[in-house]
Amino acid sequence: MATAGKVIKCRAAVAWEPNKPLVIEEIEVAPPQANEVRIKIVATGVCHTDLYHLFEGMHKDGFPAVLGHEGAGIVESVGPGVTEFQPGDKVIPLFVSQCRECRFCKNPKTNQASGRHDMMAPADSRFTCKGKKVLQFMGTSTFSQYTVMNQIAIAKIDPAAPLDKVCLLGCGICTGYGAAVNTAKVEPGSTCAVFGLGAVGLAAVMGCKSAGAKRIFAVDINPDKFGKAKVFGATDFVNPKDHDKPISQVLAEMTNGGVDYSLECVGNVTVMRSALESCVKGWGVSVLVGWTDLYDVATRPIQLIAGRTWKGSLFGGFKSKDGVPQMVKAYLDKKVKLDEFITHNMTLVAIYFTLVAVLSFYPLDEMFHVLFSLGSKQFCVTVYIGNYERLVSQKR
Ligand SMILES: NC(=O)c1ccc[n+]([C@@H]2O[C@H](COP(=O)([O-])OP(=O)(O)OC[C@H]3O[C@@H](n4cnc5c(N)ncnc54)[C@H](O)[C@@H]3O)[C@@H](O)[C@H]2O)c1
Ligand SMILES: [Zn+2]
Ligand SMILES: [Zn+2]
Repeated sequence: MATAGKVIKCRAAVAWEPNKPLVIEEIEVAPPQANEVRIKIVATGVCHTDLYHLFEGMHKDGFPAVLGHEGAGIVESVGPGVTEFQPGDKVIPLFVSQCRECRFCKNPKTNQASGRHDMMAPADSRFTCKGKKVLQFMGTSTFSQYTVMNQIAIAKIDPAAPLDKVCLLGCGICTGYGAAVNTAKVEPGSTCAVFGLGAVGLAAVMGCKSAGAKRIFAVDINPDKFGKAKVFGATDFVNPKDHDKPISQVLAEMTNGGVDYSLECVGNVTVMRSALESCVKGWGVSVLVGWTDLYDVATRPIQLIAGRTWKGSLFGGFKSKDGVPQMVKAYLDKKVKLDEFITHNMTLVAIYFTLVAVLSFYPLDEMFHVLFSLGSKQFCVTVYIGNYERLVSQKR
């Protein structure tokens, strides 16, 4: 390849500061070092965790960064010591690695990893922009035309896979689906409740359905989400805004004492508590999937003493390198849906203008609503990085 071994200059959406729009910049992407692979990103989704980093978490040492961790692409070149990948392979970058050697990888009970590439250390980033090191968010940075990853954090996938669809398996869909199937271990004939119907929650509904759940309650404060939830298998719909009582009480009354499984896919500690308390005593299992590190979770001890189990799930409990290619195959075999999650296809430039418009015209507390209702987070967006240049020239 003509570019192998050379610095590649390409476009990326750079988050220079918290709470500011992304800026489309030309960045330099260094060649892959030992055990690394340089990937041409073809498509990426937008996950709430990208927005969380920019607008909610806002940790100062996490900028400047290139966000994005739900992408798919093609190997451009490989560094020394890489034998598993070759230029031209279709791949999905992984924000949870799998080295197959450490104590976590060897233990079938977990998909946790111990590698450094999961983090955003400046030394691990291969990006520079205007002479400054730019961090690789979650190690992946899929809002860039090229990225560099360690080979233990890349999944090789079926060459037949359409990258603009399977990119969603890089985070949201594996996360929600696996949280139901692998972490909650939903059983046939059971009753489930899924709180929050973004991509993650809808995938959790799909996971409950595929595990054979008899009744699946879809809970969201935005009733527009219920139609989509039905497509994925939800049987009942609950909008907390329609009730004066706590939602756990509403669900307990509808299910003779509570659901067997609940999944929190919002990232709100109050909802996490409601989800736990919506479970039946004795055996109910509640899984935390939504992300926040700003608040503590709480409940009364009796909730757990009475036999409920509270668990958390990272990336749906999938061992990433093994699980992602299996999910790609399940999609190609029509066993899991992906197309139905996609509401909008837009270019990197469009995402940029969406963010700029939103940030310039709306006050901060209205912003999330506007941003989401514009569709950037309504279910999931696929962003075609490849179309960027074409769109720019049209714009000029
Ligand atoms: N654990 C993991 O590995 C992992 C991976 C990916 C994402 N996440 C997290 O999962 C969460 C969901 O991600 P997403 O991309 O689907 O988000 P999203 O913003 O698309 O969806 C969230 C949904 O929750 C609904 N909601 C908001 N407040 C609610 C409330 N009080 N009650 C019920 N519903 C409510 C919203 O209307 C929306 O439909 C986020 O917190 C994200 O950071 C975790
Ligand atoms: Zn994510
Ligand atoms: Zn490992």
